[in-house]
Amino acid sequence: SSRKLFIGGNWKSNLTVAQVNAHVNEVVNTLQIDPAKLEVLVAPTTLHLAQVKSILRPDIHLSAQSCSPENMGAFTGEVAASQLKDFGVNWVLIGHSERRSFFGETDAVVAKKVTLALAHGLNIVLCIGENLSEREGGQTFDVVARQLNAVKSAVTDWGKIVVAYEPVWAIGTGRNATPEQAQEVHVFIRRWFTENVNADVAASTRVIYGGSVTDVNARDLIGQPDVDGFLIGGASLKPAFKTIVDVSQ
Ligand code: G3H
Repeated sequence: SSRKLFIGGNWKSNLTVAQVNAHVNEVVNTLQIDPAKLEVLVAPTTLHLAQVKSILRPDIHLSAQSCSPENMGAFTGEVAASQLKDFGVNWVLIGHSERRSFFGETDAVVAKKVTLALAHGLNIVLCIGENLSEREGGQTFDVVARQLNAVKSAVTDWGKIVVAYEPVWAIGTGRNATPEQAQEVHVFIRRWFTENVNADVAASTRVIYGGSVTDVNARDLIGQPDVDGFLIGGASLKPAFKTIVDVSQ
């Protein structure tokens, strides 16, 4: 397709300072990236953003894993989108299933974050996806559509957004969606864009897959026409990240 591939590493709540330094120097900064074909992003903890920023290759995007649903102010523990931008962090993950399920992030909170992130010039990896009981109940498309509908009016520029389809049952479980299962939902998401935004946005928006992506399954997944890259958790902390980047281009 004409869409540039996109691979993100979500480090979640992992790594010490020493491990951050070693991983950036040994794996991330040594990636071979064809800039015409691929964009790469890493999302360390909020605590480690400064350190990663100081050593990360400038062609790799630095991302926060979340941002506040409020502006700067009396919101203890939160970092505002405007503060990320001011600090030089231009990307943020929003709506990750771990935020939704463990920290009570509703569709409405996700929409507030999207509004503020875009208002302050951030790019967003917007995470959506169904859980196991929703998949088994045949509700996958309904859930994905509901999550997209929830942010629709908050999005002023879809060009700033990468959509990550992450079925919850595949996250950290070692049970990835099959290439066919991923493709089926990515096609559905693209159809949602055609019907709810427009054909240009449907054709140009990157839809990436996340959930137990490894150096072993990446090649088959990326072979699907509507899989435009990956959001990687566990394997993004390992040398396997390099292999995934290599086989994807
Ligand atoms: O954001 C990344 C996803 O949650 C996938 O995590 O690769 O460890 O399954 P995982």
